[in-house]
Amino acid sequence: MIESAKSQCNFPLETSIPQASLESILCTQELQRRRSRPPDYEKENRALVALVSTLANSPGTILQTLAGTILEITESDSAGLSLLTRDDDGKRFYWPAIAGMWNPHVGGGTPRNFGPCGDVLDRNCTLLFTHFERRYPYLIPVMPPAEECLLVPFYVGGKAVGTIWAIMHSDRHKFDAEDERVMGSLGQFASSAYQAVVSIDDLKFQVAEREKAETELRKLTDGLETKVLVRTEELEQRNSQLAEARARLAEEKLALERSEAFLAEAQHLSSTGSFCWRPSTGEIRWSEQLYRIFEIEQGVPVTLELVGSRIHPEDISILNDMNERTRAAVSDFEYDYRLLMPDHSVKHVHALAHGSRDADGQLEYIGAVQDVTQRRASEEALARARSELAHVTRVMSLSTLTASIAHEVSQPLSGMVTNASTCLRMLSSDPPNVEGARETARRTIRDGNRASDVITRLRALLGKKDATIEVIDLNDAVREVIALSLSELQSNRVILRHQLASDLPPVAGDRVQLQQVILNLLRNASDAMNTVDDRPRELLITTERDEGDRARLSVKDAGVGLDPQSMDKLFEAFYTTKNDGMGIGLSVCRSIIEKHRGLIWATQNDGPGATFSFSLPCRTDTKVQ
Ligand SMILES: Nc1ncnc2c1ncn2[C@@H]1O[C@H](COP(=O)(O)OP(=O)(O)OP(=O)(O)O)[C@@H](O)[C@H]1O
Ligand SMILES: [Mg+2]
Repeated sequence: MIESAKSQCNFPLETSIPQASLESILCTQELQRRRSRPPDYEKENRALVALVSTLANSPGTILQTLAGTILEITESDSAGLSLLTRDDDGKRFYWPAIAGMWNPHVGGGTPRNFGPCGDVLDRNCTLLFTHFERRYPYLIPVMPPAEECLLVPFYVGGKAVGTIWAIMHSDRHKFDAEDERVMGSLGQFASSAYQAVVSIDDLKFQVAEREKAETELRKLTDGLETKVLVRTEELEQRNSQLAEARARLAEEKLALERSEAFLAEAQHLSSTGSFCWRPSTGEIRWSEQLYRIFEIEQGVPVTLELVGSRIHPEDISILNDMNERTRAAVSDFEYDYRLLMPDHSVKHVHALAHGSRDADGQLEYIGAVQDVTQRRASEEALARARSELAHVTRVMSLSTLTASIAHEVSQPLSGMVTNASTCLRMLSSDPPNVEGARETARRTIRDGNRASDVITRLRALLGKKDATIEVIDLNDAVREVIALSLSELQSNRVILRHQLASDLPPVAGDRVQLQQVILNLLRNASDAMNTVDDRPRELLITTERDEGDRARLSVKDAGVGLDPQSMDKLFEAFYTTKNDGMGIGLSVCRSIIEKHRGLIWATQNDGPGATFSFSLPCRTDTKVQ
């Protein structure tokens, strides 16, 4: 309340220039000289009681009530209070309450150092002014002008803080000593009222400050609570994430343990051990299974020497080779070698490893070693069984030819007998026919050779079991098979033709096995034409140079042809459509051709019958598997 009026004290202070001397506007002595009216204590007491009750009941209006009381008791035209401003260290006076004619000027004021109130405070006594606007021109516009103004200072703790004043705007009434006395007593009340108002203001200020502080605090608390809530939520989230992560980790650990167990089991079942090897440090780590394969006690530190001590002396060069190669550069390696166990048994192992550099740039090999002893044994057994089978089927095929072969052999034999008898007869005639005998002896030798050739070929096909690789002219092989089968084919009324390429490159392989394939194909072709009576039973054998430096042989018949539904079964073992067939012929053919890295297939002819073909690589370095 007190502070709020300050902004209305808006005189242009710096332009105020004193127009008259202070003394010329003071007339304080007049108060003693004038005739004084008698004191009216009753009125004065009533007024003071009213003031005190206002102070108690409505302290906010006390200053205005005091101004009214001054007006009433001094019977003046205007009355009011001037208070030093508090916010700028008392540089001005302002008027918080005015009663009477100057009431509209509430909120106005005067400068502290240049004005009637300042004079009162400087002199520290009551002063009576007349026409103060003569010295203080900023008061000129304040209407109506003051004829006389009685100003009384009031104090708080011995220090003047303001003035109360009464103004006469005309000379209808002059202030006297009684006014001065009453004003003195009202000045004391003003001091109490001022203190009360200041305290109330302070209190209000403090309350406002406290409320402000409380609001801030509430905001802060709210903010804090929100933060705590957010943080709590974050922490809870984090906690649940952690719990999830922990659960996941536990699951992963379990899964890892399980997969480790699986791995160990898988290694055990597949007889495969794994290892990790760092050539730079010589560090070698083995899985349990690898210790078992090498038959070395679990956990014994592994060194290359230890590994070497188990390798078969004939294969030790492989270890040295591997050692050199892997140290030289990062590479992958794959080796097959044998282990010689302390009980002199031999194990076959297949090792492979992948080389890489670890995070420190160190060379590292991670690999696996599989004990393939059993597999090797079964492979060998299988190969033996296969060649046994091939042999048996060959014998079987040939046995069906036996009659015609016997015929072939018996022909030259009976020729030989006839020739020998003729020869004897010529020699025993007189004179002996030496020339004729020589000729018949030559024929005997020729027939002998013919029979011997057949026997040799037959023996070759019947007797041989193991594969031997040689360079073969397929055309020759075909001719030999034809020679053996010809009479059989002829007895089946088969018309055999052949177109053998003159530029056929040689192939590498086992002659007897390949002849067996040709023989099987010829027999099947002949069988397929058994029931054909409405057309010639033509059989055509062709050899030709095939794409990609290969040699191809085809056997084309005019038989019953192929059943499209069974095409994919033809080469399967035991597939047969014949009453006396075993369904072995074509499966033996396929295994032989595949061993020679070749292909075998069947196609339906455009006309009647089918064509069976195989093609083989021509390179002489081809190895039979
Ligand atoms: N040239 C062909 N024309 C038509 N069908 C054929 C021909 N060659 C083979 N087949 C069919 O393929 C089947 C399988 O032939 P494969 O040579 O494997 O056995 P098989 O001749 O029946 O008996 P075997 O074991 O005595 O040779 C034959 O039963 C036949 O049905
Ligand atoms: Mg057959």
